[in-house]
Amino acid sequence: MKIKKEKCLIVANWKMNPVSSKLAKQNFSSIKKVANKMRNVETVVCPPFVYLESLKSTGHRCVIGSQDLFFQPEGSYTGEISFLQLKNMGIKYSIIGHSERRNPTHGEGETDELINLKIRASLKGMITPIVCVGEKTRDEKGDYLSFLKTQIEKAFADLPKNSIKDVVVAYEPIWAIGKDAKRDATPKEVFEISIFIKKVISDIYNTKSVPPTKILYGGSVNEKNIVDFYKESGIDGFLIGRASLDPKKFAEILKRVEEIK
Ligand code: PGA
Repeated sequence: MKIKKEKCLIVANWKMNPVSSKLAKQNFSSIKKVANKMRNVETVVCPPFVYLESLKSTGHRCVIGSQDLFFQPEGSYTGEISFLQLKNMGIKYSIIGHSERRNPTHGEGETDELINLKIRASLKGMITPIVCVGEKTRDEKGDYLSFLKTQIEKAFADLPKNSIKDVVVAYEPIWAIGKDAKRDATPKEVFEISIFIKKVISDIYNTKSVPPTKILYGGSVNEKNIVDFYKESGIDGFLIGRASLDPKKFAEILKRVEEIK
C-alpha cells in the first residue's frame, strides 16, 4: 500500500454522476486509455458505489476508488457499504469526510468522530483513506487555521505513527469548491496550508521530521490552472470534481501534469 512519492496522485471525484452505467463505462474507458499511458501520474477514479463493480480495472496506473465507506465490517446498517466489502472487491482508495458528506443540509452531517472511525476502518482494510479537510470561510484572525487543526487532529486520533504514511490528506477549502465557489485558491495559499497540515501532523506525533503523508489539493482544479498549482504549491496531487466528469478535459489534465515531470 506504500504510495510512490514521485508520482502525482490525481483523484477524480465523480460525486453523484453520471446518470447511467453505460455513460460511466464510456467515460471510464476513455479516461483509462489516457491514464494507463502516464508514467508520472497515478489516477484514481471514484464513481458512485453502483458503478464500482462494472468499472473494476486491472491496470495499476488507473484504478477505481470509493467516495465513502462504513466502519463496521458487516451487519444491520441499512444502506451502508462496508470497508470489508470494498476490500474484498479489491478497492485500494476511498475518499473519507468530503465536505458534502460533512454538510448536514445536503449530506449525512458526518462528524469528526465518525470520520476518524472510517479512517481507521479503511486502514484496517488496506484501503488508502483520502481524508478531506477544509474551512468554510477565511477570516483575518486566522480562526480557519485552528478549525483545520482540529479537523486534522480528530481525523488522526488514535492512529499509530506507522500508519501516517498510508493516509492521504486532501485540502479542500469549501469556499473554492464546486459551482458556487467564491474564488480560486492561489498556489501560494495551497503551499502555505500544505506546510501547515504537515506541521500539525508532526506535532500530533511529537516528531521534528516531515510526515510522509501525501497532501492533495481540491477546489475548482481544471486543465488551465493545474500546472501552476502543481509547480508552485509543492503538493503531491489533486482531488478533482467537475473537471473529472468530462473525459476530454480530464485527459488534458493528466497530460499536462505528465509533461511537467
Ligand atoms: P470541484 O470539486 O473540482 O468541482 O470544485 C472538488 C471536490 O468537491 O472534491
